[in-house]
Amino acid sequence: MRKPFIAGNWKMNKSVTEAKELVSSLQKKVKDVENVEIGVCPTALALSEVKNLLADTNIKVGAQNIYWEDSGAFTGEISAEMLADINIDYIIIGHSERRQYFNESDQDVNRKVKSALAHQIKPIICVGETLTERKSQETENKVRFQVKADLAGLTADEVKKVVIAYEPIWAIGTGESATAEEANRVIGIIRDVVRDEYPQVADKVRIQYGGSVKPHNCIEIMKQPEIDGALVGGASLDAASFAEIVLKTTELY
Ligand code: PGA
Repeated sequence: MRKPFIAGNWKMNKSVTEAKELVSSLQKKVKDVENVEIGVCPTALALSEVKNLLADTNIKVGAQNIYWEDSGAFTGEISAEMLADINIDYIIIGHSERRQYFNESDQDVNRKVKSALAHQIKPIICVGETLTERKSQETENKVRFQVKADLAGLTADEVKKVVIAYEPIWAIGTGESATAEEANRVIGIIRDVVRDEYPQVADKVRIQYGGSVKPHNCIEIMKQPEIDGALVGGASLDAASFAEIVLKTTELY
């Protein structure tokens, strides 16, 4: 049985002061949760302080991006090696906003995934289709291509540690989520793609849904058999609503 994983992607929100307040409040609300893994992904600036505050708690900490080299002349970037030094647990890689605004390709994503794994940090790899692709029935081809390219060259042992987030781009930050059944169907396809290459571990890989997950729709989404958690944007910026999503999910497992 896969342990569900609810992670909050804060994007470019919250100062260090606000980040510390948010996790302190969240921690009180979810401290007894055991059957759901919980994670928060603050900005790079707040990672160190947030990790210190959450050390020895049930909340994991993730970064939102890395560069794939360990160090060097790459102004403005941070590496997995540096994140490993402060015990960061996860790194979101290939979020659609990174792909769209910062031109990240699947080859970049693949390099970053390898770098994260080389430093024992688990990647949360984001894939998903645009509205145009969806309308032209390209969803399946798009996610197949992304998953294959993003995992290229990994060993089965590495793939076991990876989390994939299916995030239809048209559902991110729009208040419009995919229907739970549709998300379940696409996530099933993603698992089949993983199974093609890595039959031994495909059932172990956790695949989240992301895109306007809120307290009012999380049960329906989390009830689906293929969906192993959620990557939550907007609703993770408020301790009460993020905790509500986590607590509602605990009741299903
Ligand atoms: P949203 O963002 O929940 O605000 O739609 C999800 C994401 O981008 O990960």
